[in-house]
Amino acid sequence: MEHILRCFGDIYNVSVVRGEGCYVYDDQGNKYVDFEAGVWSAALGHSHPGVNETLYKQVDQIMHLGYRYQNPIVEEAARMLLEAVNFDSGKCIFLSSGSEAVEFAVQITRRITKRPLLLTLSGAYLGAFGSAGKRDAEEWHVFDWSKCHTCSTTGCRPDCKLMADLPFDQIGGFVMEAGSNWVRMPPKHLIQTLESRVKEEGGLIVANEITTGLGRTGSWFGYEHYCLQPDIVAVGKHLGNGYPVSAVVMKEHSGLYLEGDSFRYAQSHQNDALGCAVVTTVVRTLGEVGLVQRSKEVGQIFKEKLIELQHQHKCIKEVRGLGLMLAIELQHCELSAIHRELFSKGYLVGISALANLLRFFPPLTISIEDIDGMINALGAVLSSR
Ligand SMILES: Cc1ncc(COP(=O)(O)O)c(C=O)c1O
Repeated sequence: MEHILRCFGDIYNVSVVRGEGCYVYDDQGNKYVDFEAGVWSAALGHSHPGVNETLYKQVDQIMHLGYRYQNPIVEEAARMLLEAVNFDSGKCIFLSSGSEAVEFAVQITRRITKRPLLLTLSGAYLGAFGSAGKRDAEEWHVFDWSKCHTCSTTGCRPDCKLMADLPFDQIGGFVMEAGSNWVRMPPKHLIQTLESRVKEEGGLIVANEITTGLGRTGSWFGYEHYCLQPDIVAVGKHLGNGYPVSAVVMKEHSGLYLEGDSFRYAQSHQNDALGCAVVTTVVRTLGEVGLVQRSKEVGQIFKEKLIELQHQHKCIKEVRGLGLMLAIELQHCELSAIHRELFSKGYLVGISALANLLRFFPPLTISIEDIDGMINALGAVLSSR
């Protein structure tokens, strides 16, 4: 990668040239099991035959068209997503990345509520750029919930100082992200308290479902674990199975408000037919093959296996997650060396040096055999230290 700017971190010396299902292959023919699904995106697995066929067919018809023209596959993709979130008569826009979808959701929330201040949780990742990426203090109130797990298990205390400090009457919206970054999900009572206080004061609830959406956590959307009723939902990653398409879905009143208010947003690839065709195939396949339920069941088995491993290795401090969004927090060991050794044994897993985590976000089709293979390899790597 001599000519590619390095702006993320270490690049391993491997040239990945092909993917199929849960596997990717390098130019030497070596096979790797991809426990990251690319960047948590290939829910159906790499090079999925149904997605590929959809792409070929749509490429032969039309990929992209001007803002003022309609196309049936775009409308169909919107209809399917609105049905998935259960927003009757809502509206949808298709964009190109998760960051763009969250930033768009943030812009429309401010526009609708006319309040610039937004609320989010500490540790949440919202995107690579824009207001959501920067989260400047004048525009964002970042709620530190690090002590909420131990404070109460039943509900937020009426005398909670953190809650009392929140300027609910100035908050335009709560951008909720169900803890995918550090695989640490916030407590249900906290989310429900924030939801009701924000709504009481006229704010909107925005669910950032870029990572947790479309089956990752064993339900269609991460917010379902909280019985949250969002007004706006941002989806990405799984939506394109690796193709760069994202979406923002909103309830009827938000859509009507924006259209009535002459809201403008122009980006060359919004509502592109090619991305929307992929969306229809991904959403249909997730439902038809029962992958959301599979994520829940296989995720539970996977988690139990990680917990067994934890009993054998003191360096595993904690096993966390839901569905096929799992992580282990390590202690007293060299995280990046472990990551590299797993790679050399043919397993691609995620790493967060900041939180000392190995993350497992595989395709929702991952087999128990491949999970066993990775657990054995990880056990061997940990035993050798
Ligand atoms: C929770 C969350 N929000 C937003 C984003 C940004 O999405 P993208 O990288 O597609 O721009 C990510 C990416 O990892 C994410 O995990």
